[in-house]
Amino acid sequence: MKKIVVAIDGWSSCGKSTLAKQMAKELGYIYVDSGAMYRAITLYFLRNHVDWNEKKAVKKALKDIELDFRLNEQNENVEIYLNDENVEYLVRDLIVAEKVSEVAAIRSVREFAVAQQQKLGKKKGIVMDGRDIGTVVFPKAELKIFMTADNAVRVERRFRELVEKNPNITIEEVAENIQMRDYIDSNREVSPLRRAEDAVVIDNTKLTQEEQLKKALKLAKNIT
Ligand code: C5P
Repeated sequence: MKKIVVAIDGWSSCGKSTLAKQMAKELGYIYVDSGAMYRAITLYFLRNHVDWNEKKAVKKALKDIELDFRLNEQNENVEIYLNDENVEYLVRDLIVAEKVSEVAAIRSVREFAVAQQQKLGKKKGIVMDGRDIGTVVFPKAELKIFMTADNAVRVERRFRELVEKNPNITIEEVAENIQMRDYIDSNREVSPLRRAEDAVVIDNTKLTQEEQLKKALKLAKNIT
């Protein structure tokens, strides 16, 4: 079977990573969470007090950042490393989520991340999720999926995920963060979140994980 590139884009918290991970497993492909890269860059900027409104400071900081994906001990999931440190858990924090869309809107940050993403996809056999994968990173991807779900469902899902790590978090905070990220991501000048014209839309408001996986695998099998 020929190997393809699967690009999954969509709004925040609509299950892109879950689907992408499961698809990669089923197809024997590598999975890349492009959002984790923007989150790790944001974590670095926050820790090192980089003023991201200053172009020079951003460019200088990017030179000191090395991102890497490595398999976890169980050989099940890939995790993001920032300068050799596993930050998979830290980048999910709301402190990072509150700033990541601002950082991801910076042109030089996007150029830095996109170059690495394209390199990872050179040999195909990859599922990557994000906001601009089908439009900018892999405009020639054989399969493009655009995911969406009702707002209330997205908030509830993300809240359940985050409250496990941080019991003090409120549903209002989560709702506000999702709304803010969607707004910035779809209105930024550089690579705004858009559905690629040739992307297939999956609305998973009423779908189980198994159902959405089945749908997506069928799409992939029709191509390979
Ligand atoms: O996918 P995730 O929610 O982890 O992404 C975090 C943020 O990173 C998004 O809200 C968006 O601002 C940015 N992002 C992006 N382009 C991508 C992936 C993520 O701008 N391809």
